[in-house]
Amino acid sequence: MDIRTVDTTPFDDQKPGTSGLRKKVAVFQQPHYLENFIQSIFDCVEEPRGKTLVLGGDGRFHNRAAIQTIIKMAAAAGFGRLMVGQGGILSTPAASAVIRKYRALGGIILSASHNPGGPGGDFGIKFNIGNGGPAPEKDTEAFFRRSRQLNQYRIADVPDVDLERVGETPLGDLVLQVIDPVADYAELMEALFDFGRINSMFEAGMLDIRFDAMHAVTGPYACEILEKRLGAKPGSVMNGVPREDFGGGHPDPNLAHARELVGIMNGGAGAPHFGAASDGDGDRNMVLGQRFFVTPSDSLAVMAANAHRLPGYRMGLAGVARSMPTSQAVDRVAERLGIECYETPTGWKFFGNLLDAKKVTMCGEESFGTGSDHVREKDGLWAVLFWLNLLAIRNESVESIVRAHWRAFGRNYYSRHDYEGVDGARAGELVEDLRDKLAGLPGKRLGEREVRYADDFAYTDPVDGSVTEHQGVRIGFQDGARIIFRLSGTGTEGATLRLYVERYEPDPAGHDQETQEALKELIQIAENLSELRERTGRSGPTVIT
Ligand code: G1P
Ligand code: ZN
Repeated sequence: MDIRTVDTTPFDDQKPGTSGLRKKVAVFQQPHYLENFIQSIFDCVEEPRGKTLVLGGDGRFHNRAAIQTIIKMAAAAGFGRLMVGQGGILSTPAASAVIRKYRALGGIILSASHNPGGPGGDFGIKFNIGNGGPAPEKDTEAFFRRSRQLNQYRIADVPDVDLERVGETPLGDLVLQVIDPVADYAELMEALFDFGRINSMFEAGMLDIRFDAMHAVTGPYACEILEKRLGAKPGSVMNGVPREDFGGGHPDPNLAHARELVGIMNGGAGAPHFGAASDGDGDRNMVLGQRFFVTPSDSLAVMAANAHRLPGYRMGLAGVARSMPTSQAVDRVAERLGIECYETPTGWKFFGNLLDAKKVTMCGEESFGTGSDHVREKDGLWAVLFWLNLLAIRNESVESIVRAHWRAFGRNYYSRHDYEGVDGARAGELVEDLRDKLAGLPGKRLGEREVRYADDFAYTDPVDGSVTEHQGVRIGFQDGARIIFRLSGTGTEGATLRLYVERYEPDPAGHDQETQEALKELIQIAENLSELRERTGRSGPTVIT
């Protein structure tokens, strides 16, 4: 096998964000762009000789071409084994499961998550470490530093490889192993949940579900697990064939983008009992009942409160964690259970140490992400199976489970307003100016409430002591209400400003309000304080979740 050393010049923009390096497809298509970043990773990881690497992606446009290049570079780098999902497919949680199961050095996942795909869409690369989770910041910083000095990369001179057939092919010293992308993941799910019990509900005709794979990676996983293994009726999985452009859609499971599913779930008495959707790479989830939306923050809280009822979590939870902007609903569950609740910066990579150190068993983010210690990524189908198992155990509707939860713990009204594609400099200034106001806020009254604290969130990792600063402006009130501002770290066009608003309502008589209505005063305060509309030039948010 010939290995070529190719001269290159560094790019200055290969800085990974909240979740890997994410850019427009055209950026990745520039000569050497992908190769430079992959070589930067390979130069920073431990000695690859003889080690196993996992590789797969969400099937979006450019996935196949990128995988062929990475195979050749992995062969040149000296890896011993490369496990690639058949057809180049591996969902993010499945990749995490495979890395863990086969004790790989790490894995490369090609995805831009929920961002649109196709030639005009986005592409991305994430590197996951041996625990199956996203590389921590010290690693992503190292990749970035390396990328700015790189002047050569190495690639094997071999023809493209057939990725359609499961099996092993030698490439020099490398064994290329094409794996069934679903098998290991499905086996893990069977170990965590009571498939027999869920199956009985389907058999008895007591459970009708719809899962929207949004033409993204979860299609094959959902067809195998939900329809084949669990016996959901054919057609329960919608949009189940992955497409390179996600059928022209925006594979983000929320009320704005999963419209078709939302329509079905709102469709009168005959609507399915349970609806769910996942995103481009399969790590996000949205849960719906009949005419009922479960906010991701509530979903996390309900799951934590009920975990002990499910086979995989019978021993109870060691602790829980949520990202800072996620609602405090799960904090109340933790308090009741007498376990710790950790508040981390946004992004799954911050949960890794807590999970590895067994400080937490379950964690989640308001951005439609929930997961547990079974992998080191958030996991969309896992959350769906968790809910199905819970429905089978409690034999109640989704709505009645959530309402009972609110009665027991109180309700955290919660919403996120996104201002997308805002001018980067202006968005930066807005946040800077807010930071300047923070010191004067504690003790002050804003509307009906008194400010208890106002700060720029910083996190000290309790396991390795690393400090992460500037993770969002928080304003907390005496009654637990919060207003948070942060700039997105995953966008590829201009800046995305996120406003998160939350308030706690202990009284069940107050649990029936419409969310935006219930949060109206706080939203107004947030908009005034930040001069949001004037500064962004927008009359309202692009997306409300
Ligand atoms: C967004 C979400 C965050 C999530 C990330 C990757 O990041 O807000 O919770 O971990 O996508 O799915 P952001 O764009 O806000 O930086
Ligand atoms: Zn995702």
